[in-house]
Amino acid sequence: MSGLKFHLVPFGCQMNIYDSQKMEAILAKSGYRRTGCPEEADLILLNTCSIREKAENKVFSMLGRLGELKKNGAEPVIALGGCMATLRKDEIFRRAPMVDVVFGPDNMENLPRLIEEFTATGARRIDAEFADHTVWDGMDAGQTAVCAHVGIAKGCDNHCSYCIVPRTRGPEISRPPESILAEARLLAEKGCAEVTLIGQNVNSYGKGGSADFPALLKMVEKVPGIRRIRFMTSHPKDLGEPLVQTMADSKKICPAVHMPVQAGSNRVLSAMNRGYTAEEYLEKVARLRKAVPGVSVSSDLMVGFPGETEEDFQETLNVMKTALFDGIFLFNHSPRPGTKSADLPGLVTREVSQSRFYRANALHKAIMAEKLSSMVGTEQEVLCEGPAVGGGDGVQGRTRGNHLVFFDGGPELVGQTLKITITRVLGYNLGGKTTV
Ligand code: SAH
Ligand code: SF4
Ligand code: F3S
Repeated sequence: MSGLKFHLVPFGCQMNIYDSQKMEAILAKSGYRRTGCPEEADLILLNTCSIREKAENKVFSMLGRLGELKKNGAEPVIALGGCMATLRKDEIFRRAPMVDVVFGPDNMENLPRLIEEFTATGARRIDAEFADHTVWDGMDAGQTAVCAHVGIAKGCDNHCSYCIVPRTRGPEISRPPESILAEARLLAEKGCAEVTLIGQNVNSYGKGGSADFPALLKMVEKVPGIRRIRFMTSHPKDLGEPLVQTMADSKKICPAVHMPVQAGSNRVLSAMNRGYTAEEYLEKVARLRKAVPGVSVSSDLMVGFPGETEEDFQETLNVMKTALFDGIFLFNHSPRPGTKSADLPGLVTREVSQSRFYRANALHKAIMAEKLSSMVGTEQEVLCEGPAVGGGDGVQGRTRGNHLVFFDGGPELVGQTLKITITRVLGYNLGGKTTV
């Protein structure tokens, strides 16, 4: 096979972006090249997300448009991967007649075979069962970037009452350390200087196995060429003292933690089944800030959870005022099929939820404006990752605390760790210049 082109449409989280890279590598081995143009593609690939209803609706409406590209009802082949593949496997062919191949996150390697079978027989193919090992072992995503992600665990064993991920991604399985280290080494050989270790809950890495998460971090630190290590996501209930100490002792582990609080009311947190109180959460933030100088703490927050009152919401604002997050992702609660929260009483109307969303967002904006302006004039260590994206000339990079900085320079700076003096605030990002 040669000369085949595929068009990939990504949705969803870091894990999905990472999976997209693996899909691209798998297809490259079968002779496919990527194209930005769906009209010239032989294969259209949607890597889908089910986390909120909106995410799924986007996929269905895009499928409607893509179906019109099919000539005589045949090409291009349309394949649907990602979380909707597992969640919607019993209904997808009925609801989306233009889809030819459905493959789950654990079945990416079978994609070329499924496409071939479909092309040969015209029979729609589906493979969306969970595997009992991690999917990435021995896979080369062919990444050549300065900053790259490395998957360390798949699935999730928690039961947050709103969340669909345990159903779409299956039980938590940790990737063996050797496999993670092999990928990190390969990345470093190709010029990667910063790896972000990703999993739904990195702090529970290695459950029942040989290495726990702090031990894994220490192994990744020894990979030659890797100058910076990040990780996400940290579940507050599993972030313990050994990790805090490991961060405090390390020069390579960046002082940044993404630790979603979700809500500030203990009643809501308990209904969410999160396993901590607001006080416990804030204690962990305080401990981190004390032990790891300059640490940035970011979070996910949800408004409009069933039964959330105005008082509950005020407690979310209070947590924000105390934690002073360095970044947040904010969401309206979206009922997901089969989750506990979808059946809870006390539906919060869209209007009320949206008003809370705006108020939380405004508070965060004010907190960030103050934080970022206090950084003006300071010198930061920035790893230049590439040309400025969507922001005109120059290049961009991140501080150790994960703030995005734009500054003047050309391709010669990419991959270098630089001293940058912060000169201005640009929305949620920073502008700076090389310190001379
Ligand atoms: N494993 C990670 C994140 C998983 S999903 C963790 O536990 O932190 C990313 C974020 O999406 C969650 O942190 C949550 O804030 C949000 N989310 C998950 N399910 C949702 C739902 N049903 N409605 C709205 N937001 C949701
Ligand atoms: Fe979902 Fe909770 Fe697991 Fe995160 S920890 S993926 S929110 S169930
Ligand atoms: Fe990620 Fe969405 Fe699945 S957030 S794990 S792609 S449901």
